[in-house]
Amino acid sequence: MISRKTRFAALAGSVALLVSSCGREELPQNTLDPQGPVAEQLDNLIDPVFIAAGFVFVLVNALILIAAVKFRRKSDDEIPKQVHGHAALEIAWTAAPAVLLAVIGVFTLGVIFDIDERPAGANSMEVRVVGHQWWWEFAYDDQGFTTANELHIPIDTKVSLELQSVDVVHSFWPPKLAGKLDVVPGRTNHMVVEADTPGTYYGQCAEFCGLSHANMYLRVIAHEPADFDAWVRANRDEPRDAATLTGAAGRGASLFRAKGCASCHAVTGYAAGDFGPDLSHLQQREVFAGAMFELNDRNLRRWLRDPPAEKPGSLMPNLDLTEEEITDLIAYLNTLD
Ligand code: CUA
Repeated sequence: MISRKTRFAALAGSVALLVSSCGREELPQNTLDPQGPVAEQLDNLIDPVFIAAGFVFVLVNALILIAAVKFRRKSDDEIPKQVHGHAALEIAWTAAPAVLLAVIGVFTLGVIFDIDERPAGANSMEVRVVGHQWWWEFAYDDQGFTTANELHIPIDTKVSLELQSVDVVHSFWPPKLAGKLDVVPGRTNHMVVEADTPGTYYGQCAEFCGLSHANMYLRVIAHEPADFDAWVRANRDEPRDAATLTGAAGRGASLFRAKGCASCHAVTGYAAGDFGPDLSHLQQREVFAGAMFELNDRNLRRWLRDPPAEKPGSLMPNLDLTEEEITDLIAYLNTLD
């Protein structure tokens, strides 16, 4: 038999652990740490509902405990008092939850309609988000370029996201900036994100979408307006003309076509594939392959050696490249700034 003290210590320990996991620091995907008005609206719903639910939880459990102790059978031949029907009680416990849920419902509906509103005019912009197995495409149609895995936005701007999918159902989820919304093939869903301060906000696909669902991360990078404009300009520039590249980069550019990279990836003016991420300005990014890897030569080499080994199910095949070919391809990719 475990002693009372030990049991109490175990309980206290678990509670402490549970409570400490609710800390708000250093948790990159903490819904309870909103960093923009949309996420704040959601948090303002979560908090009171949680308090109401907590109150109900404590009340119900206390009543169960009291009933179990106070009305327990005290001897083997005792039959407890038999009660059937109690109109006042039954009306009370039907009406109270109904009223509570109605109040929560009114506030919830208000927020749902509010955050679904399409922003317009100054301080708003639109980005098309396309879910792929297993990476995110961000199409800045108004600005005329497409990127992947990193959604760049200016701060204090309502960014309207048009969510689409080319294959299966995904779910776009940047917890500190907005809620979670399914990305469904054949339709366009709409959500708004907005950040108060510059910084990198983490997120990921939140709907099981196949083998590498867990490797389908995303980043939202919020800039001061001037920095955002500079980023847009960098992404609109024509990439260097592949024909002028020499040495390893020149050989890499040729391999990019010869090995079939160009049939899946776009590079403005050089390749027109649209199955994989657009690589025209790859070097503007921090990460690649569904934001699984930091973008650097070492990780690119690992990736190019055998993509499906790094990311299970990867639709980018193993091209059986030699180390020299990989070196040349990386040299070429490094020119795509
Ligand atoms: Cu995409 Cu899970």
